[in-house]
Amino acid sequence: MNEIATSMKDYLLQHPQLHYVFFGGKGGVGKTVMAGATAIWAANQGKRVMLASTNPVHSLSGLLGQDVFGKHTPVTGVPNLWAYEIDTKDTIERSKQEIREKIQWFLKFADISTKAEDFVESATMNPAFEESAMFENMIDLMFKDEYDLYVFDTAPTANARRLLGMSKVYSLWVGKMLKSREEARSLRELLSFTKKKEEDPLMDYLVSFRERMGHARELLTDEQKTAFFFVTLAEALPIAVITRFIGWFHDFGIPVGGVIVNMMIDRAQVKEDSPEFVRNRVEMQARYMEDVWEKFDGLVRSIVPLYETEVRGVEMLKRTANSLFV
Ligand SMILES: Nc1ncnc2c1ncn2[C@@H]1O[C@H](COP(=O)(O)OP(=O)(O)OP(=O)(O)O)[C@@H](O)[C@H]1O
Ligand SMILES: [Mg+2]
Repeated sequence: MNEIATSMKDYLLQHPQLHYVFFGGKGGVGKTVMAGATAIWAANQGKRVMLASTNPVHSLSGLLGQDVFGKHTPVTGVPNLWAYEIDTKDTIERSKQEIREKIQWFLKFADISTKAEDFVESATMNPAFEESAMFENMIDLMFKDEYDLYVFDTAPTANARRLLGMSKVYSLWVGKMLKSREEARSLRELLSFTKKKEEDPLMDYLVSFRERMGHARELLTDEQKTAFFFVTLAEALPIAVITRFIGWFHDFGIPVGGVIVNMMIDRAQVKEDSPEFVRNRVEMQARYMEDVWEKFDGLVRSIVPLYETEVRGVEMLKRTANSLFV
């Protein structure tokens, strides 16, 4: 059906327990803008809202016209709303330090006389490390549970998918690791002729890691608490990207909140004597909207117009929110 069955507003009202909202989609389609607009709308409904970014490349300060880096910052002009760009460098340094300590402990434990630094380098010098540090940041924030609603700028799509896809493997792997750690430990205890239990930071880490991942999975797959929204344009590539995402998310049981179509040119403003360029784009969008209705049947929540300027500042975000939540 070529119409919106359940709007963005309906969806949020029908999910009063909603706690974690994410926006995914191709680069530049308006994820940050939709996160900002949604956060403002929810704050106006009286919820205490945290608009957070875990990306190394932040854009919330720019969007809001206010420095929100490194700490929970009340957003000027919007009661109930806080924004926060996580200091990713700081997290990465801390994660490195944690890993360094674990490796040092392990080398000592195993009586290996190699410098820990070589291992630390190889464990942390890759993009996956940065990505997973960001993911840890996000779930830390989620677990703290200090707000009624968390709106995350940019879904860690690949990460969430990987996490959930891997979580069975993780579980098996960690289970095996734990078992062999237990065995190694009891052997050591036996050999040292003492009954005293040794500390085992590596095992503690594995246990807590498994717990954290399990809890994250629980929250991220809870249909009442979590929703991933996908932003697209009426164009081929952004549609293809979110089609793939939605497929993955269905497979992993992560709740898909719906699809937002952004930057639609207002047809009513286009006349026969409008520039050919504009008429062509309107035609193109109309064609791709056919695809959208067909592919995302029942999932389209809102169609947001292309504005005459970029979306920056609280006033412009309020205007966008009014259109996102008609
Ligand atoms: N409906 C709209 N009308 C006009 N400009 C828009 C609209 N939506 C978004 N924009 C502008 O488009 C640009 C991209 O938006 P935004 O930064 O939200 O995209 P993004 O998906 O978060 O990008 P990235 O992938 O880089 O994080 C911004 O300059 C924003 O102000
Ligand atoms: Mg963005």
